[in-house]
Amino acid sequence: MIPVILSGGSGSRLWPLSRKLYPKQFLALTGQRTLFQQTLMRLDAEGMGAPIVVCNEEHRFIVSEQLAGIGCSAQAVLLEPFGRNTAPAIAMVAMKLVAEGRDELLLVLPADHVVEDQKALQRALALATIAAEQGAMVLFGVPASKPETGFGYIKSRPARDDLPPGVLAVERFVEKPSSAKASEFVASGDYFWNSGMFLFRCSRYLEELKGHEPDIYDTCLLALERSKHEGDSVAIDEATFACCPDNSIDYAVMEKTGRACVVPLDAGWNDVGCWSSLWDVQGKDEHGNALQGDVVLQDCHNCLVHGTGKLVTLVGLDDLVVVETKDAVMITHRERSQEVKQLVNTLAAQG
Ligand code: GDD
Ligand code: MG
Repeated sequence: MIPVILSGGSGSRLWPLSRKLYPKQFLALTGQRTLFQQTLMRLDAEGMGAPIVVCNEEHRFIVSEQLAGIGCSAQAVLLEPFGRNTAPAIAMVAMKLVAEGRDELLLVLPADHVVEDQKALQRALALATIAAEQGAMVLFGVPASKPETGFGYIKSRPARDDLPPGVLAVERFVEKPSSAKASEFVASGDYFWNSGMFLFRCSRYLEELKGHEPDIYDTCLLALERSKHEGDSVAIDEATFACCPDNSIDYAVMEKTGRACVVPLDAGWNDVGCWSSLWDVQGKDEHGNALQGDVVLQDCHNCLVHGTGKLVTLVGLDDLVVVETKDAVMITHRERSQEVKQLVNTLAAQG
């Protein structure tokens, strides 16, 4: 089994800490190690090969530094000139392995998640391996507990007899529903969140991709063929990759395949997607405040305050996020922290 670490996201909802040149997966947000390093350190199961990392070319030195920092060597680092989302990133890894005669199982892992219960993860992985070896496209599903709109939702049903007990079939897949739909799904109790973690054989993924998104398949094949190899690094050909459609594995393959199945993952998973999910996983004081840096609060509750230099003080405030960095201060309501993404777009448009 080969772990593929998807590390090309920009993490804009965690601005101003997460920046284009230094996105959230490379920050130590939840402990001593960065999210990227924690993802790699989780991979100590038997039969796990050396990881393959797919990241933006701009981050190649951060990646090698962070790999070295935990004594991990990747078998390859694919460098994308720009992001074309997750479907192409995974395709190029699968194509590389198949070209080397290694049609192995691929464990797709986003580089920016928290998983608290390693044992539960290993159990889910063992079950998923059996299903993937039988040709299934496994998606790890987290029981949906809140109406988050940034996730994919899956309605499951009992699986076909040929899959092992505990593995569920997919009745319906809804990527990033409206808030009303998300509330409906959570209330029904029948839905999982798509964790963004997958397991399948390389050739199975490529067959599905070729069937559903032949343009992505053809462009990735060509971009990889024309890529430049230097040690473990593979620099994807820019001119060819520029023609690749932008699409996620969720829309391009998982929503369409008839071979999707769900392995439940109840392991303290969190995608640390925005400030409120960081608040969820951080340690808090007796008033529910998660604090980092030089921070003094008076009569405040359930706030996240992150200072990186200046003294930050709040009086009589609840449910706020306050982030102070060298060149920017951002304040929002905890429940509206998803909207930071639009703010970042506005700032980018203003240059
Ligand atoms: N190499 C590479 N190239 N990696 C990428 C790219 C890319 O172009 N785009 C995204 N990634 C990485 C991100 O760094 C992240 O680790 C992972 O792929 C998922 O991308 P996100 O952009 O974070 O996706 P999302 O959070 O909006 O949605 C996905 O994850 C949710 C769970 O966190 C979907 O799979 C949802 O269905 C899912 O619920
Ligand atoms: Mg994400």
